[in-house]
Formats: sequence, C-alpha cells, structure tokens
Amino acid sequence: MNTTKTITLAYTGASGMPYGVRLLELLLAGGNRVYLLYSQAAQIVAHQEMQLVLPSRPKEAEELFSRRFNAAEGQLRVFGREDWFAPVASGSNPADAMVVCPCTMGTLAAIAAGLSQKLIERSADVMLKENRKLILVPRETPFSSIHLENMLKLARSGAIIMPPNPGFYHHPETVQDMVDFVVARILDHLGVAQSLMPRWGE
Ligand SMILES: Cc1cc2nc3c(=O)[nH]c(=O)nc-3n(C[C@H](O)[C@H](O)[C@H](O)COP(=O)(O)O)c2cc1C
Repeated sequence: MNTTKTITLAYTGASGMPYGVRLLELLLAGGNRVYLLYSQAAQIVAHQEMQLVLPSRPKEAEELFSRRFNAAEGQLRVFGREDWFAPVASGSNPADAMVVCPCTMGTLAAIAAGLSQKLIERSADVMLKENRKLILVPRETPFSSIHLENMLKLARSGAIIMPPNPGFYHHPETVQDMVDFVVARILDHLGVAQSLMPRWGE
C-alpha cells in the first residue's frame, strides 16, 4: 500500500471537528502531504467544539498545526478561502484525493451545484472533473430530501459519501474510540495505512 500521498483536507462548519483534526494528525504522522482548507464557519465550530482557534492567516495555521503534529518542513500547506493560486484550484495539479470532514449541508449543496465560489468548492469540483477520489463526511440529522438528493447526485458523480456513523461492534469505551472508528474508515478509503482499527475478520 502506498503510504505517502497528497491529500486535500477541508473543514467546514458542521459538527464533528474532532474527526477532521484527528484525520490531519494521522495523515501527517503517516508522512503524507496535506493541503488544508477551512471555511469561516469551520473556525466558529472548531472553537465551539474543541476550543481550537483556527487562525484566519493561513501561515499561522500552518505553523500551529505543523508544531502540534510535528510535521516536516513543507509537509502541511494551508490555503486561504479564495486563494485561486493554490495548486488545488486547478485540474493541472490535483491532489491524489480530497476529504471534506466535517461537511456541511451548505458546502455539500454548493459542490453538488458546481458553484466553485470558494476554494473548497472549486477544489472538490476539480476532483470530480479529474476523476480523483472525493470523500465527503456530511453531518446533519435528520437529512431532508434536499440533502439526500444532493448526496445522491454527488455519489452518482463519483464522490464517496461517508457520514460519520460510528459502529458499536468494536465496543468503544471513549469518545476518542468513536472518533477513531470514523477516521479509520476514511483512511481505509484513502488507501492510507492505519492501525487504529482492525478490519473486520482480521
Ligand atoms: C456549532 C455549530 C454547529 C453546526 N453544525 C452543523 C451541522 O452539523 N451540519 C450543517 O450542515 N451545518 C451546521 N452548522 C451550520 C453551518 O455552520 C452553516 O450553515 C454555515 O453557513 C456553513 O458554512 P460552510 O459550509 O461554508 O462551512 C453549524 C453551525 C454551528 C455554529
């Protein structure tokens, strides 16, 4: 299994920021290159859920997370919301895969409609048009028919829809166990080695 990839990771303002932060930690620990993007609402939710201040300046976020997760020089790059010069903005330089985790219904709808008004939307649009892996981790409950139709449209366009639904058959004892269940499944789909959770039957 190829363990070093370039992954675009986007945080939007849905509940579930611990999934996204854990995913970043493990992608970096595995030696992968990460392009990190986040929406304004993600900054609000990160603070609400984790007391995590996501800096408005990409360079500051790069330094913060690189220090926190011991990333190598250049391993993590953070891009602004409308940085159209970022590599992820173009089909000529797409990442190997992209994950939107957590993904709001708003961003899901914008991607389904092909709006590309923010870098997250454009980057996801590029992944679809270039036939690269796009994983969306949508969080809402209940889903309306609008949400479900958008998800169906995206699934039919090649996106992988992975709601953060932890299973209970591995007997989780902590919230971290439940977070890791979801993150392990995402890493499996990215083809990134993980030792968080054995696969069924192993
Ligand atoms: C604490 C908090 C939790 C939220 N949780 C969700 C959620 O689980 N799903 C969702 O679709 N929107 C949620 N929202 C609303 C979105 O943040 C809001 O629709 C925002 O405009 C989405 O923008 P974005 O897609 O650019 O991040 C939440 C907002 C806050 C403040």
